[in-house]
Amino acid sequence: MCGIVGYIGPKEKKEILLDGLQELEYRGYDSAGIAIIEGKKLSNFKAIGKLQNLREKTKAYESEGFGISIGHTRWATHGKPTELNAHPHLGTYSYVVHNGIIENYQILKEELQSDGVTFLSQTDTETIVHLFEKFYNKTDDAFPSFEKTIDKLEGAYATLLITEAAIDTIFFAKNGSPMLIGFDKDEVYFASSDTPIIGKATEVYYLEDGEYGYAKDGKVTLFNAKGERSFTKQALTANKVLAQKDGYRFFMEKEIYEQSRVMSETMMGRVLDSSIALDELDANFFDGISAIKICACGTSYHSALTSAYLFERISKVRCDIEIASEFRYKEPLLTKDTLFITISQSGETADTLEALKMAKSAGLKSLSICNVDNSSIVRESDAAILTRAGIEKGVASTKAFATQTMVLWILALYIGQEKKTISKEVLHREINAMLHTPKALMVTDMLHAKLNRLSKRYLHGHGFFFIGRDIFFPLALEGALKLKEISYMHAEGYPAGEMKHGPIALADAELFTIALMPKTMHYEKIKSNVEELSARDTTICAISPLPFDLADDFIQTKYDSHPMLEFFEMMVVTQLLALEISVRLGNDVDMPRNLAKSVTVE
Ligand code: F6R
Repeated sequence: MCGIVGYIGPKEKKEILLDGLQELEYRGYDSAGIAIIEGKKLSNFKAIGKLQNLREKTKAYESEGFGISIGHTRWATHGKPTELNAHPHLGTYSYVVHNGIIENYQILKEELQSDGVTFLSQTDTETIVHLFEKFYNKTDDAFPSFEKTIDKLEGAYATLLITEAAIDTIFFAKNGSPMLIGFDKDEVYFASSDTPIIGKATEVYYLEDGEYGYAKDGKVTLFNAKGERSFTKQALTANKVLAQKDGYRFFMEKEIYEQSRVMSETMMGRVLDSSIALDELDANFFDGISAIKICACGTSYHSALTSAYLFERISKVRCDIEIASEFRYKEPLLTKDTLFITISQSGETADTLEALKMAKSAGLKSLSICNVDNSSIVRESDAAILTRAGIEKGVASTKAFATQTMVLWILALYIGQEKKTISKEVLHREINAMLHTPKALMVTDMLHAKLNRLSKRYLHGHGFFFIGRDIFFPLALEGALKLKEISYMHAEGYPAGEMKHGPIALADAELFTIALMPKTMHYEKIKSNVEELSARDTTICAISPLPFDLADDFIQTKYDSHPMLEFFEMMVVTQLLALEISVRLGNDVDMPRNLAKSVTVE
């Protein structure tokens, strides 16, 4: 996820920017850059990879005296993670950093190009700086030119602009992406969240959508659509970890709430109006491929299991899923018409990495779906599709699972589109559902409060069964894994139709069943499976859009037009239920006992 830092004042600006960007590292990024103007001296540095690379590049540089400065960490969306695509972006005499997405950037870019402007990067951001200079070149008046620029932008943005045309001023605007302004005496700071300025600024103002303005002489002048407005600063917290959690109690909770937003990032530039684009893959990537094998561990294995239904149903390609640690030692028969996919949040899981190496040495083409660019698994693969979930801190994976599943769904559609095994109608229907997923992932206060209340009834018993059919079976596995990881209670995921083949022997009032009962997928079948359990006095917590009388507890979901929308909405319910049970039991939600975020040993 991108991060922004800005500073105007007399202190050493390089250090303020680099330290600030360091505080945003946990959000994830693949390149970074800074720009500083002191008097007539303009300096700009960019580096791909870790901030350490930028530190190396700026080693010999020191800023002196009063100046204006902006910095950025970039998580690639439009265009690859290269130095040219890294922010700040330069016009002729101005620099800009930006978080978010300028939705109309193609139109703006074409207009500017027809005026003779040359673009250096593939980013949407570069349009901002060229627009500003186009207006400034006509008027010689910086702030009105910035206002006109902002007026042209559609989409979400938080942006800072500095220019040699106003060497004592930082221009800013916010709409849909977070940004705040920090104050300490005559110094002004900007940042996309408060961690970079904690310990530096004493007061803060959190910008509202539609606000813009400029900072000069230690003062901020603020506008919105109605004109200039006054604002009230508030004291800034001194606790960094609390600030990193953005007000949530746990990273896991924050990450559950983030899912709606990161899903939009996962789809950005890939899910288009009537087609799927995956720039990461060459045009002939699927030539000669007639089957898929996926290897992964834990939660990533569950997203793989979900995708097997999608690959066979949508893309009409045979798909086998293997647990990486099993695959390694089973002496598998591998054929070169098989695309070998690995899925990993960290990109460092030892079993998955070794499975990939085995497949490669057998001559298979490889693709990884990963959250961490430049990780070992990404480097080892022929191609990679990044999930763009941003750094996941909670050991129990949530947003990584959601975005992996989305990438796999996108890939299933893409293969269908490329191999022409999918009709226009189906493509349209799936894309339409995809575009609704951010809504289905939204956590409402009502839902969270309900799960909090309900959780007190599930703190004992001799175990949980999460049951579902079809794609809701892997979701049941994932729901059970979340619960056992952070509650330390026994939980199993099971195909609903299999309960009567053995596990039903466990049924009694102290067996808790979490039943995933989607309307769009085998509703009558799962209903009768749940009825069988209810008849044996099992305590049932049903999750469904359709009311179900036999449930002891019932959580009614809203989205019932497409199985994947039901899937994602139910996923959020199972995540929050696990979280609330764990909180009541007094467990360490973010760092459960015995678990590690990255499992680099066999
Ligand atoms: C569960 C969890 C683990 C990981 C597994 C694989 O919440 O986080 O089960 O999914 O260790 O890790 P990655 O995806 O990094 O390969």
